Amino acid sequence: MAPGAGTGSPGGAGGDRFDVVVIGGGPGGYAAALYGAAAGLSVAVVELDKVGGTCLHRGCVPAKEFLETAAVYRTVAGASEFGIGAGADAGPPAVEFAVSQARKQKVVDQLFKGLSGLMKGRGITVFNGTGTLHPDHRVHIAGNDGTEHTVTGTDIVLAAGSLPRTIPGFDVDGTVVLTSDEVLDLETLPASVAVIGGGAIGCEFASLFADLGSAVTVFEALPAILAGCDADVAAVVARSFRKRKIDVKVGAQLQGHTPDPSGRGTVVSYGDGEKLAVDAVVVSVGRRPRTDGLLAEGTGVVIDERGFVVADERMRTAAPGVWAVGDVVAGTPQLAHVGFAEAIVVIKSILGEPTLPVAYDRVPWAIYCHPEVAFAGLSEEAARAAGLDVVVKKDPFGGNSRARIIGDTEGLVKVIAERRPDGTTGRILGVHMAGPWVTEQLGAGYLAVNWEATPDEVAQFVQPHPSLSETFGETVLALTGRGLHVA
Ligand code: NAI
Repeated sequence: MAPGAGTGSPGGAGGDRFDVVVIGGGPGGYAAALYGAAAGLSVAVVELDKVGGTCLHRGCVPAKEFLETAAVYRTVAGASEFGIGAGADAGPPAVEFAVSQARKQKVVDQLFKGLSGLMKGRGITVFNGTGTLHPDHRVHIAGNDGTEHTVTGTDIVLAAGSLPRTIPGFDVDGTVVLTSDEVLDLETLPASVAVIGGGAIGCEFASLFADLGSAVTVFEALPAILAGCDADVAAVVARSFRKRKIDVKVGAQLQGHTPDPSGRGTVVSYGDGEKLAVDAVVVSVGRRPRTDGLLAEGTGVVIDERGFVVADERMRTAAPGVWAVGDVVAGTPQLAHVGFAEAIVVIKSILGEPTLPVAYDRVPWAIYCHPEVAFAGLSEEAARAAGLDVVVKKDPFGGNSRARIIGDTEGLVKVIAERRPDGTTGRILGVHMAGPWVTEQLGAGYLAVNWEATPDEVAQFVQPHPSLSETFGETVLALTGRGLHVA
């Protein structure tokens, strides 16, 4: 097999022995490869499809590109309010979804080319095929070109990622019942959609489809959408969804669906004999690990009952010299940036450098539905459930001048801090945001939580005016006991 086939990156010293062999070229795997190669290690990556993985080709990047399409639609539809001749007077903007699809693909292709070039430049050898770990750090590669090959790594990194989960009664057929994999390849917009699961993926797709004109129903089994987010933040999204006529059915129980004999659309059965006819069903009920065929007998790596690889806080599996990063690892938040962070821990550990484990309870979360959601640290509910005495302040974006200027005032910033036994306010435990561009605003809140800073310390820092970030500054100032606008 020609290393680098399919990626155009045949660099590296080659041969069959490497310092590090990475199985899986998604964010966890390519970060391990890039970071390791930058430190002078010889690295091979085994990737069955394209480097970049789910994030670049079937997840974060294409989904956010489509959400940007929805944002452009909202801007154009609301342009007349700014005195610009479009929107209301001109009628609703036309959606040419095939053009959006082509633009999305162009963005993905450019990033793929950039990543492939970067890997080639660092001398990383990419094998195009399916890798299986055998004992003694041997990785067997069944090449996509039909050839077989075995390479050995002093260290091995398992980074095989995850696949969409499905539920009984909703077999994915790629035309009527879709997962994120298929949605991101659509050429036309379905006029009506049932989204099963109101988590991050479900809310992003519901928001996107509704903004572009589809009738959307979200079925969520739990009592609220966006479980795990602070309740005030999830309520902002729920309220916005209601205003935009997205029908959110919580506590939902789905029975199955009956496809229309014409091959167009289906009827979803739920609750007590209720029915909903839709063009498409999007199943977004979580992701399962991709461990089928990853491990041969006798590697010593432990897989849990749900198929995830078991690793300790420094990403060591039960087999010496075999590490695991990203979605394939049990208990890790399934986020690309968590994969990056875990990969750095692994490479530093291989190099014998000191490391800190990734603090999973304080990583940044960013959900790109409209309004956006971003947070780090404990929600108010989680802090109270942990027995902590807390002080909480909230500031809505409605009072923020920049939010008024851009005409996007839905949402709030909420900061949760510890109340010390003497009644004073201690470290900031959680920063939660819903509203305009909050995924880009979280940085200061993320630092505050991870630095274990107090409101007194953070309130020293000045926010530019007028800016959306003033709402975070105001909320923290209020926590000092005296706010400018927030009591
Ligand atoms: P998720 O676990 O976040 O949400 C799945 C939702 O489906 C849950 O609310 C669950 O209660 C619900 N559900 C499960 N079975 C159901 C059923 N039978 N009927 C109705 N509802 C049901 O999973 P999701 O949204 O698929 O995302 C997968 C992973 O990818 C998550 O870890 C997520 O955090 C991550 N991700 C993160 C993004 C971001 O941060 N922007 C974007 C996309 C994914």
